[in-house]
Amino acid sequence: MKGLPKVELHLHLEGAAPPAFIRGLAREKGIDIGGIFTEDGSYRFTDFWDFLKVYEAACTTLTGPEEFQRLTLAVLEESAASGVVYSECFLSPDFCGGGDLAAWREYLHAIEEAAEEAERAMDITLRGIVTPIRHFGPEKARQVAICAAETAGRFITGFGIGGDEKVGALKDFAWSFDCAREAGLRLTAHAGEWNGPDEVRAAVRDLGVERVGHGVRAIEDLALVDELAEKGVVLECCPGSNVALGIYPSFRAHPIAELDRRGVKVTINTDDPPFFHTTMAREYDDLHSAFDWDEGQFRRLAAGALDAAFCDADTKTRIAKLLET
Ligand code: ADE
Ligand code: ZN
Repeated sequence: MKGLPKVELHLHLEGAAPPAFIRGLAREKGIDIGGIFTEDGSYRFTDFWDFLKVYEAACTTLTGPEEFQRLTLAVLEESAASGVVYSECFLSPDFCGGGDLAAWREYLHAIEEAAEEAERAMDITLRGIVTPIRHFGPEKARQVAICAAETAGRFITGFGIGGDEKVGALKDFAWSFDCAREAGLRLTAHAGEWNGPDEVRAAVRDLGVERVGHGVRAIEDLALVDELAEKGVVLECCPGSNVALGIYPSFRAHPIAELDRRGVKVTINTDDPPFFHTTMAREYDDLHSAFDWDEGQFRRLAAGALDAAFCDADTKTRIAKLLET
């Protein structure tokens, strides 16, 4: 599975930080991040809400653009080792200068430099999706949307929202999504991971997104499943993340295969791979074991993911050639 060329659309840059990388930074800088690691060096958390706290604690070691440059390289090395040729990463101005535009530009410059280096060295292409964090609230999200709109272009291609789905309502973020849309950005939102089908409906109706992060709980309402299939809404499925966080007990119980059978455009992603002990190659292996998916199925989904990618047409043409190998 490692050798199959892959496209990933749902990966949080900070959430992809290897624990050893964060532990090294904490030591280097003398930052106390508390007991966020297990004895064997993994991240330690009890549930999704504890995961968010550990995630934010880990981010306190990422103190400047240089740390993000190193992080981006480390993350792309891991992705490339799994066969990923194109990746869209969620980038959070909240963790890159706290929503200040001038600071965000500096962080972004560092991330783009690392992406260019990785593209030269490893033939992997990165694009960024600017992402406010839902539980930080709509006011913060407006600042993030302005950062996104001001830096929209070849590298920053999309706008999304992550964080705690149980806090607030998606419609409270409509101003931010309108701002991003007007700047030419393509839209996605986490929904239907912790809340049910109505949240997926809200993402499509209230924010006008063309992709949904997770979205898998749409399966609880088959009329919605039909609507997603008909509208061509793409689900950024992260099966290993959902199993690790206890939304589904196993890969076999995950709805990705059923959604696919019902005509919904599904894609395969890792979300926050070291937190959930996964990689893109591991997701492929586990999906193969659970559903007996073969190479043809994986190639079909990778082509669909590229089709749903937010990058420009020239980049898609170039990546499409890599998918044929
Ligand atoms: N941020 C990082 N991972 C996330 C997830 N699985 N859901 C919501 N927000 C996140
Ligand atoms: Zn996510």
